[in-house]
Amino acid sequence: MFKLKNIISIKDFEREDVEFILNEASKLEDIAQSKEVSDELKGKILGLMFFEPSTRTRMSFETAMKRLGGDGIGFETSGSSSVSKGESIADTAKMFEGYSDALVIRHEYEGVSKFISDIVDVPVINAGDGAGQHPTQTLLDLYTIQKEIGHIDDLKIALIGDLKYGRTVHSLSNALGLFNNVKIYLVSPQELKMPQEILHDLNETNVEYEEVDNIESIIDKVNVLYVTRIQKERFGDIEDYLKIKGAYIINKKMLEGKDLIVMHPLPRIDEIDSDVDDTKYNKYFTQATNAVPVRMAILKTLIKNNPK
Ligand code: CP
Repeated sequence: MFKLKNIISIKDFEREDVEFILNEASKLEDIAQSKEVSDELKGKILGLMFFEPSTRTRMSFETAMKRLGGDGIGFETSGSSSVSKGESIADTAKMFEGYSDALVIRHEYEGVSKFISDIVDVPVINAGDGAGQHPTQTLLDLYTIQKEIGHIDDLKIALIGDLKYGRTVHSLSNALGLFNNVKIYLVSPQELKMPQEILHDLNETNVEYEEVDNIESIIDKVNVLYVTRIQKERFGDIEDYLKIKGAYIINKKMLEGKDLIVMHPLPRIDEIDSDVDDTKYNKYFTQATNAVPVRMAILKTLIKNNPK
């Protein structure tokens, strides 16, 4: 039984909660990949409050809801809602609560999803809050690892790029603490190292980790290269961004003969060369597609467990 009403942080999950969602997602794969629509959530409405841009998260939540027979309403930027006229986030969320059976929130500031979950009665899902967490991305990352590698226990994974501001690597690091014998290589420039708070969490959950500044030293040791974008929008000074941009680029030549997969939450800029796209190493597009069954599992579980 899945106990959580809201999905705010992956730190609220126990291993059995993760496994529940991954198993449900697996059962929903056929509908996710077909042209079929089930009636599991017929008549239900998902509120999509995206204060910050998104392609994959918003579209896959909407697709997931529609595949389950429900529908979605919402906005794609604050500019297209009455927030642009000065309406508060709290009032906006209360309106959405009246129209919807669950809310999906993306915001540039950490803690907004939690704040909304405290003032509405419907389930709230954090779809990315600033440099904080992106828990549903982590669930689809774990689903992809489970499918492609066959196990999450005993995983050796390199997290590469922007480890300071990258919410996907923060959530994923916390989730890997639920599994056994995981080794994480943290590959980043000095300026974008993993925050101390996450390193503390890794120590608390007995995850072995090593901080390195180059890919060459770890590429033969890992099952997964998890690459992230250097996030221009998180830098106050553009000069600081330009100094680091392009620091780590994965290409086909460096992967030849390796026994690993390449993942990326996307969007990518230049950190994975397009010559990797047509190789067996590319699992980043599959990863994005896996968002649909995983988010179907999340919506089905939360909305059925918490009827309005
Ligand atoms: N992975 C991810 O969150 O992508 P979007 O920003 O396009 O939603």
